[in-house]
Amino acid sequence: MLVLADIGSLRPWTDPATIAINRLPMRVPTSPMGGSRWRRNLDGQWDFRLFDTPDSVPQTAITSAVSTRGWQRVAVPGNWTMQDTGDVPHYTNVQMPFHGPPPTLPERNPTGVYRRSMTIPAGWTRSRRVVVHIGGAESVHAVYVNGRFAGYGTDSRLASEYDVTDHVRPGSNDLAVVVVRYSAQSYVEDQDQWWMAGLHREVFVESRPRVGIENLRCDANFDVSSGAGSLGVTTTIAFSEHAEKGWAVRATLETLDGVAVAASDAIVVPSTFAKPYVFAGHRAVWTTDVEAVSPWSAERPHRYRVVAELLDPTGAVAEVHTQLIGFRHVEVRDRQLLVNGRPIWIFGVNRHDHHPRRGKAVTADDMRADLLAMRAHNITALRTSHYPNDPRLMDLCDEIGMYVIDEANIESHAYNTSLCDDERYRTTWLERGARMVQRDINHPSVILWSLGNESGYGTSHDALAGWIRRYDPSRPLHYEGAVLHDGWVDGGLLSTDIVCPMYPQIAAIEAYGRDGIGHRPLIMCEYSHAMGNSNGSLSDYWDVITSTPGLQGGFLWEWKDHGLEQTLPDGSTRFAYGGLFGDTPNDCNFVADGLMSADLVPHPAMREVMWVYRPVTVTPGKRNGLVTVSNRQSFSGLDGLTATWGLRVDGELVDSGLLEPGLIGPHATAQVALPVAIPAGTGAVHLSIRWTTHDDTPWARAGHLVAWDQLELRAAPRVRPPRARLSDGDAPPTALEALFTQPPAVNIWRAATDNDGFKLIPDLAARIGVGGSALTRWTEADLDSIPADELVGCDVVRSVGDDGAVTYDYTVDVPDSLADLPRVGIIFQLPSRFRALRWCGRGPHENYPDRNASASLAVWDGSVDRSPYLVPQEFGLRTDTQWLEITDAKGRALRIDAVGPPFHWSATHHTPRDLFVAEHDSELVPRRELVVCIDTAHRGLGTASCGPDVLDRYRLPAGRYRWALRFSVM
Ligand code: GAL
Ligand code: MG
Repeated sequence: MLVLADIGSLRPWTDPATIAINRLPMRVPTSPMGGSRWRRNLDGQWDFRLFDTPDSVPQTAITSAVSTRGWQRVAVPGNWTMQDTGDVPHYTNVQMPFHGPPPTLPERNPTGVYRRSMTIPAGWTRSRRVVVHIGGAESVHAVYVNGRFAGYGTDSRLASEYDVTDHVRPGSNDLAVVVVRYSAQSYVEDQDQWWMAGLHREVFVESRPRVGIENLRCDANFDVSSGAGSLGVTTTIAFSEHAEKGWAVRATLETLDGVAVAASDAIVVPSTFAKPYVFAGHRAVWTTDVEAVSPWSAERPHRYRVVAELLDPTGAVAEVHTQLIGFRHVEVRDRQLLVNGRPIWIFGVNRHDHHPRRGKAVTADDMRADLLAMRAHNITALRTSHYPNDPRLMDLCDEIGMYVIDEANIESHAYNTSLCDDERYRTTWLERGARMVQRDINHPSVILWSLGNESGYGTSHDALAGWIRRYDPSRPLHYEGAVLHDGWVDGGLLSTDIVCPMYPQIAAIEAYGRDGIGHRPLIMCEYSHAMGNSNGSLSDYWDVITSTPGLQGGFLWEWKDHGLEQTLPDGSTRFAYGGLFGDTPNDCNFVADGLMSADLVPHPAMREVMWVYRPVTVTPGKRNGLVTVSNRQSFSGLDGLTATWGLRVDGELVDSGLLEPGLIGPHATAQVALPVAIPAGTGAVHLSIRWTTHDDTPWARAGHLVAWDQLELRAAPRVRPPRARLSDGDAPPTALEALFTQPPAVNIWRAATDNDGFKLIPDLAARIGVGGSALTRWTEADLDSIPADELVGCDVVRSVGDDGAVTYDYTVDVPDSLADLPRVGIIFQLPSRFRALRWCGRGPHENYPDRNASASLAVWDGSVDRSPYLVPQEFGLRTDTQWLEITDAKGRALRIDAVGPPFHWSATHHTPRDLFVAEHDSELVPRRELVVCIDTAHRGLGTASCGPDVLDRYRLPAGRYRWALRFSVM
């Protein structure tokens, strides 16, 4: 006997066209005020049993007659794949985890039966309806009450609701939810993330009145020229039996403090019997204009409250619902995306719902922590890649201030170009997008609707676009596939109002903007792939974005690594990537590509992100004695910020003070006098300007640094490396040289970054055309195994000074065959007692030649970095350094001076080889010794793991490299 017996032989999970049975229409999340006695939250521990396939679930498993003794207990919300059920997470990117073609399903298709009881109070059923709400179930689910089938739903990222009135009785009732892990719908949920399973969002049961507010749609617009707001409130009334005459709605607009701004009269709700031909639904519509509203923007997220009262035929208030709204206007005009009439910079990031222990089940605290950390790093826009996120995220975006691209849960990546024209999938396409819009329509934070991700471009897209344009004319549309497959200039016009490519070359976006082609703004839906040590050329992107018309920014890929906590046999834990659960096929660590670790620790590149996204910039002035201050905000002046300046000579701070730039309005630029004269002398002079907040914000206390810039006022004199006069090559080692546990040797190898190539997934490039090729080139040339001096021409001239200092003068000749090396420099080791670092160069954080715009030149103090990446790779570089001191526990320092141009360096407890052979952070065993690399040249990082490789100017050409270093002991 089949468990889904009540839906008989339909086997809906196998049918792409069956998207729901008995499901109620989607609505905005709303509930009556004081309604808690009408709602029972069903989150908590449920009884749970796993079966191999939906067909192997016996009828008895869902009937209350049979006890669940001996079943497992699992948490709801939660993924059963994260809860020791024997079924594990599975990671794939483009490929499906099982064989197609759609809608073929795998032979083993884990199916979970969740059971618990729910108490229905006596008053709940009398003249009322009872509704079960399933917040999110991956991938499809069926609901049973007291053993009887109540409904079936799909789309694992949106809620499904079922009217179960006829199935419940007062007292204890048995609720069973059967969740099938893979379904015909999985083919449109093929996003690059872990395949999970289970009830990952909240579940509740609610009693709704016989006549009640079913939906409360609010359309709030802002008239830029007059400053007035316009509001439309559409209240839909559900009559569970016959519609009755005499019901009415009274709506009010109020401030968050409860001060009434505008109110409607009682608006009569039409009943079906009145005039069938003109009947437009049981709706009360109120529209009003409001003078001088405070508009909503991410900078100033002003909200108001709409209160809708349902009045019964006697005029008594039967129910009150509220919604928080914001007045704002979005439009695309003159190749610009405008919010409230002004262009905004898209300082964006892509966000998934992810938690390292709970998988797809995120809490309100998790989401708030994400958003606050984003704002603390100057991120003010997010794309809900690639599905509607937990609905509470939207409330938080409204509240904290975040522009949102809300994306439908549609990705058919493995069958990219077929399913969008496959009629079996047409309904699901439309419903996934339409239901998202219905849910999130009231949120001012949503400025664009996205039709999904990586699903080709076809008829179903244009069908969905048509529906959305009619339902919500107030927001433009976004769909990357439309411009990918149809062209940037005038491609995919029906489905996208934005040219939203992913991972374009900088030159390509520059050409689009500069040539004035197309009428749409270009906003990259994904760029700068943060996999491992990455995000090279971020500031090169932003130089072009801010100086080229038609370009407005983009969304970094991505916010967080998707590492999942895994306990190893010895009891220790680590963050797992694909394959570490035995999941095959998989795409390994391609799932770890976040700016933050899975548990929200910023990776070093976050500092560069914060810098390129800073709200105010200081650049050289139009003439000497001036600096240019530019306010990049759209609605705020700089009055909330304090600017301080610091003057450094050869890295040492010599003077500082307050900068008073005067009033500089939104998007305004001013020439401001240099606050200090350039001191006499020959040393390098740098002026730093730092902007900090006056007041506390939800994401940081007053004094939080939001922007900084450094200007060179006088360059350091150029010193040419001296031709070593006399080699002391044969002299015995000096006391200084006796310090080395490994003496300096020429080094041209770095532990490949994820962007140099995938050491763990070499076939990925061939399979889906991503990934850098440098690593292959380097390993073919045996860079990782043959000593450098056997591969390149090396000449070292050593001279020992009277003071015991030793100067090494290097000449390295790189043959044409080895052009584009990782680095040219030296490597040596020191005893473990050498710990403290002090340097005059860029810092304080890790930085690379193409990711060091945020790293100021100064004298910095630091300690030895720990490896920050999930898969070990090159890390910890500091660029443009004039000198470095490494001090031991007794205060004795080894000092290294650049004789000539500055160097780049790192000091860690790992050799490049240690890092290269390790497959996971948990395998890394730090050496006791300090491993120091000093480079005269170091290749940039680029983002070739998914996107452009290192720009030419950050590569190392073949030819002669000459540099000299002076070592001394202090
Ligand atoms: C994009 C895709 C993302 C992710 C990214 C690479 O193509 O939209 O979901 O796969 O590449 O990490
Ligand atoms: Mg994809």
